Amino acid sequence: MNNLTAIIGLGYVGLPLALEATRAGHHVLGLDISEEVVCGLTRGLSHVDDLDNEDVRDMLALGFAATSDFSRLVEAQTVVICVPTPLSGEGAPDLVAVQAAVRNVAAHLHPGMLIVLESTTYPGTTDEMVRPVLEASGLVAGVDFHLAYSPERIDPGNARFGPKNTPKVVGGHTPACTTAAVAFYASFVDTVVRTKGTREAEMAKLLENTYRHINIAMVNEMARFCHELDIDLWDVISAASTKPFGFQAFRPGPGVGGHCIPIDPNYLSHNVRARLGYPFRFVELAQEINATMPAYVARRIQDLLNADGRALRGASTLLLGVTYKPDIADTRESPAVPLAKILRAQGANLSFHDPYVKDWSVGGEEITAAADLIEGIRDADVCVLLQDHSAYDLNLIAGQCRRLFDTRGVCAPSDRVQLL
Ligand SMILES: NC(=O)c1ccc[n+]([C@@H]2O[C@H](COP(=O)([O-])OP(=O)(O)OC[C@H]3O[C@@H](n4cnc5c(N)ncnc54)[C@H](O)[C@@H]3O)[C@@H](O)[C@H]2O)c1
Repeated sequence: MNNLTAIIGLGYVGLPLALEATRAGHHVLGLDISEEVVCGLTRGLSHVDDLDNEDVRDMLALGFAATSDFSRLVEAQTVVICVPTPLSGEGAPDLVAVQAAVRNVAAHLHPGMLIVLESTTYPGTTDEMVRPVLEASGLVAGVDFHLAYSPERIDPGNARFGPKNTPKVVGGHTPACTTAAVAFYASFVDTVVRTKGTREAEMAKLLENTYRHINIAMVNEMARFCHELDIDLWDVISAASTKPFGFQAFRPGPGVGGHCIPIDPNYLSHNVRARLGYPFRFVELAQEINATMPAYVARRIQDLLNADGRALRGASTLLLGVTYKPDIADTRESPAVPLAKILRAQGANLSFHDPYVKDWSVGGEEITAAADLIEGIRDADVCVLLQDHSAYDLNLIAGQCRRLFDTRGVCAPSDRVQLL
């Protein structure tokens, strides 16, 4: 046994954490069930946006290793779990990966170990799901080993805030567990914030994401009626943003994407309903509004063509930017997918362009990529700006389009038909 830190799940969350801990001098072992991930990392190749191959090679030089051999957990003093927590087909929390990871830890648990769950989940998971599996080993949390929850706050593509300078919230099963987890994170994170317990730390993450989800839904709903009322909501938001206190700007768009905003609040509302029998109405309403934005955008594209006597059926329609946020390659839960499904079902002739995405398929069917942006734009009856990647020259795009539907409000007002 030595001072090894094991990180389980080497994705968008686990890998940047492993990099930061390795840089701070920790001896880090990364564990993942994917042989592809393990082999890639062992060969010095990164598969996430925020790390390049050089970062991985630096980590390897500093002693980091990746493996799918979970028996090596026996060597670890600290274990951090960063596995995915998606939704099941029925929209319920899917904790299969967390359960599998915890069972692996339990099989190698030893006195003095610190176990931290980072995966986003509903409040009570650490205490009610993780702790019993670990304690089945005969060891007791808070007595024989330390147990804590610390939500991940990674923001892929954010050049200003990374794992080191984003304050880290930590809540332990007991105060001593919190102290042990705080000591671990304080060795490579600038600011560590203690919560009362694991539930408060779990809930803090859900509050952050639910807050965004609800506020985005509010401006999305406003976008629809401001359009009807001929009010420029972008102008409204710029004006309101000048208030130096009590206001934070959220902007409308074609829907919400990624693996936090469209998913995490559902963990909370599902849990409230299952436990208490009543709905978390704000979340359910926000879900409904954000989920219907792609259909709204499709209708507005149809209106734009219709105004020129054109039908959507057969219209060559170019989607610009299909990732869920700008300047990253991640397309998970991107609203471009439901929009493409609706447009295709209505007979549009679809193609896409994205500087970060080479191949893109929707519902198992490949969407043609425009090899050349300008040629693609010139060939299209309508271009739909879904993601304003900074690589896009918006003036150039707007200048070349026959029709442009700008869902981000970033092109000059004279050039665009915007969402509002
Ligand atoms: N990506 C983000 O921006 C972000 C931000 C905050 C929180 N989170 C949360 O962090 C958690 C991880 O998300 P992510 O984006 O890193 O996921 P990811 O899909 O990028 O990576 C997860 C990794 O875990 C591996 N894995 C799956 N099951 C495993 C198991 N049983 N044992 C070991 N490895 C396993 C997968 O092979 C994959 O490499 C989720 O709960 C997510 O909600 C993500």
